[in-house]
Amino acid sequence: MTPTHVLVTGGAGFIGSHVSRALLARGAAVTVLDNLSVGTAAAVAPGARLVTGDVRDRAAVAEALHDVDAVVHLAAQVTIRGSFERFYDDLDTTRMGTANLVRTLDPARVRWFTLASSMAVYADAPSAAPITEAHATQPLSPYGVGKLAAEQVCGQMLAHLGVPLTVLRFFNTFGPGQTYTPYVGVITIFLTKLLRGESPVIFGDGEQARDFVHVDDITAGVLGSLGRAEGTFNLGSGRGTSLNALAGLLTDQVAPAATVLREAERPGELRFSVADIRAAREAFGYRPTRTLERDLGGVVDDIRARLSAPPETPPHPR
Ligand code: NAD
Ligand code: UD1
Repeated sequence: MTPTHVLVTGGAGFIGSHVSRALLARGAAVTVLDNLSVGTAAAVAPGARLVTGDVRDRAAVAEALHDVDAVVHLAAQVTIRGSFERFYDDLDTTRMGTANLVRTLDPARVRWFTLASSMAVYADAPSAAPITEAHATQPLSPYGVGKLAAEQVCGQMLAHLGVPLTVLRFFNTFGPGQTYTPYVGVITIFLTKLLRGESPVIFGDGEQARDFVHVDDITAGVLGSLGRAEGTFNLGSGRGTSLNALAGLLTDQVAPAATVLREAERPGELRFSVADIRAAREAFGYRPTRTLERDLGGVVDDIRARLSAPPETPPHPR
């Protein structure tokens, strides 16, 4: 099916604003449901309808679902480390918010559902070799527990309702538009600190590896699979980078004289997390085109612009 009107939950956030813009550019109508806890109304794609509300609120969800034929469900509290302090709210949003969406939608109208899941559902890997979707699931954090529960809620309930489902396990996404908080993506944290003249801090020995994937590639994966590829797919770059290598790359680019500090490893984090992306390539032609080395420029420009914005709109740690 080709969706004509898509509900993007979390559409005022980082990935959701990129996805909404791409859907609108493709000619679809877009409704955004977001409680603006992290995202902002200003980030909502021009031309999208904004419903300000919580995914756990049945009335807000019913209003947002009006006239919609596909759902891209991105709303969540996006932080592995923060999910330990806020585990109840995190789980409630991810598990019950997802269940609320599914029970409220009309399966005669909504003909596709895409769920944003995460590499945080996986058990740790023994090395930085890419892992496939068949890798064991054994979340180390409350955030990962919530994401795995959301996958199961969707898998069971949408099969029962006869609505096709795509589960996309995003790996570490970078790009312009990510809100700076102490919990958010390491690239945004390191670049913000370096551009402010502060020292980035590596947690642990820095030999942990992550798969850093550009938000444009994630967006292409969301749109490429929507209405087309049922199943569960990793979306990453397919390449691992250690934190030590990342810190070297970022300091070289923006502050070669900066010192990198070290602190203890944080609980709940995977040591190795690199995606095998062959399943997505075979199912819907997913081919990432961006790289860390070439495509950091837009992120640096975006963070510089935010840092020089008037004090009413600073990047806000929470
Ligand atoms: P984000 O925080 O920028 O966006 C999430 C949005 O959801 C925010 O705008 C927030 O205001 C909204 N939200 C939070 N709780 C809500 C609620 N109860 N009701 C309605 N709206 C709510 O994060 P993002 O990086 O754009 O992440 C989008 C999705 O992708 C999330 O599901 C996240 O778990 C997943 N994901 C992200 C990454 C990453 O590296 N950024 C990696 C894997 C998975
Ligand atoms: C990130 C996402 C998570 C997503 C997962 C998918 C965020 C906040 N989290 O988790 O939603 O499900 O990717 O792959 O975007 N680090 C430091 N110093 C810092 C910050 C981080 O050393 O100041 C390290 C962390 O310990 C970790 C690595 O950098 O080893 C990556 O951290 P981060 O960018 O927060 O992402 P994840 O926790 O992997």
